[in-house]
Amino acid sequence: MTTAHPIAPPNFPAPRGACPFAPPPAYEQARREQPVSRVTLWDGSQCWLVTRHADVRSVLRDQRFSADARHPGFPFVTDGRRALANESTSFIRLDDPEHARLRRMLTADFMIKKTEALRPRIQRIVDDFLDRMVAHGAPADLVSEFALPIPSLVICLLLGVDYGDHRYFQERSRVLLHNHSTADEVRQAREELTEYLGRLAEAKRREPDDGIISRLVARGELTDEEVAATCLLLLVAGHETTANMTSLSTLALLRDPAQLARLRAEPALIKPAVEEMLRFLSIVHSGLPRVATEDVQVGGETIRAGEGVLCMISVANRDEEVFEGADRLDIGRESRRHVAFGFGVHQCLGQPLARVELQIAVETLFRRLPRLRLAIPYEDIRFRTEMAIYGVHELPVTW
Ligand code: HEM
Repeated sequence: MTTAHPIAPPNFPAPRGACPFAPPPAYEQARREQPVSRVTLWDGSQCWLVTRHADVRSVLRDQRFSADARHPGFPFVTDGRRALANESTSFIRLDDPEHARLRRMLTADFMIKKTEALRPRIQRIVDDFLDRMVAHGAPADLVSEFALPIPSLVICLLLGVDYGDHRYFQERSRVLLHNHSTADEVRQAREELTEYLGRLAEAKRREPDDGIISRLVARGELTDEEVAATCLLLLVAGHETTANMTSLSTLALLRDPAQLARLRAEPALIKPAVEEMLRFLSIVHSGLPRVATEDVQVGGETIRAGEGVLCMISVANRDEEVFEGADRLDIGRESRRHVAFGFGVHQCLGQPLARVELQIAVETLFRRLPRLRLAIPYEDIRFRTEMAIYGVHELPVTW
């Protein structure tokens, strides 16, 4: 990027403000005053920060912006993320037509009709983990006993992975998503997970089941590496995100008794409530990275070919031009235009599944435990400021 300014642009990420649910105040200010602005990344390189809802959508749907991390100028928000650039063929970091070829093989598995049919099964899983948590007695950590195991078990069932191995893949996913992991740690975690999934694919070739891994292997169209990279993406994206949304949504509702009372009085509000919490909490806080392959005008600025962009979906989801009173949680509002799942060709593949899991988990939790409350002072809660996916590390609750 050309450095037209004598003073280096502000560092990314900016410090967070007083409200742990809101994006850093500096980005809110940028959205109002300079919606496409420059920032300096950890390695001294610079990229553009895009903060308005309209601009974020225009970048994410524009094929002149690439999601391929091998392009020079691609913005890496950590050293660990850069370490993955040349090694991963996961389709989240590929452009069409390669991206579309791989994604198409999974679209049927995540269609709304298919995930809606999973409701009874997911309800049983949610009830089972809640039974266990209640049987252990209060206080309990809602993250490790409820929010994390539910999507982990569901994605294991869909893929055909043994849930008994959950510690193995949860620990390594954590390394992949930790902003302070070194490049070596990230490489090792990825290698171990890829080997693990490669061995599993091999086993499914000999003894197929009805899971996604078996089906991908049986198609015979993917290399072993592509199967492993695709399953790694599903495994990691499929449990960390929904888990953090579940615990953060629980906390947001506990902190807003009026909204919680409304949801209890009108359980049918669960669907709009989940959409609103996706908007309000937008847990992918580090921005969606892209790089321009041609010069493109965005929000009045020219982004030159080879310059990186971070699409700040958490900031766009608080854009007053789209969501009136955006800093307020309002479970009855129409918030479907949120971009918490991204936008354009890379828009979240697993969103129908995430919605069903969140709706069932949050509704069941507050219905079955009407006296649910925090077991520690709110001030003592540790937020995941150092992780790619935002949330809380633990959520001690009692009931
Ligand atoms: C609340 C939960 C979730 C949130 C907030 C979320 C968010 C996102 C976002 C923002 C993207 C776009 C990334 C980009 O454009 O660079 C994405 C992509 C993706 N997500 Fe999710 N996700 C969630 C749950 C899931 C689940 C449950 C699965 C799988 C079972 C999943 C699988 C994927 C995949 C495969 C992609 C890549 C799509 C592509 O590149 O075409 N996600 N997700």
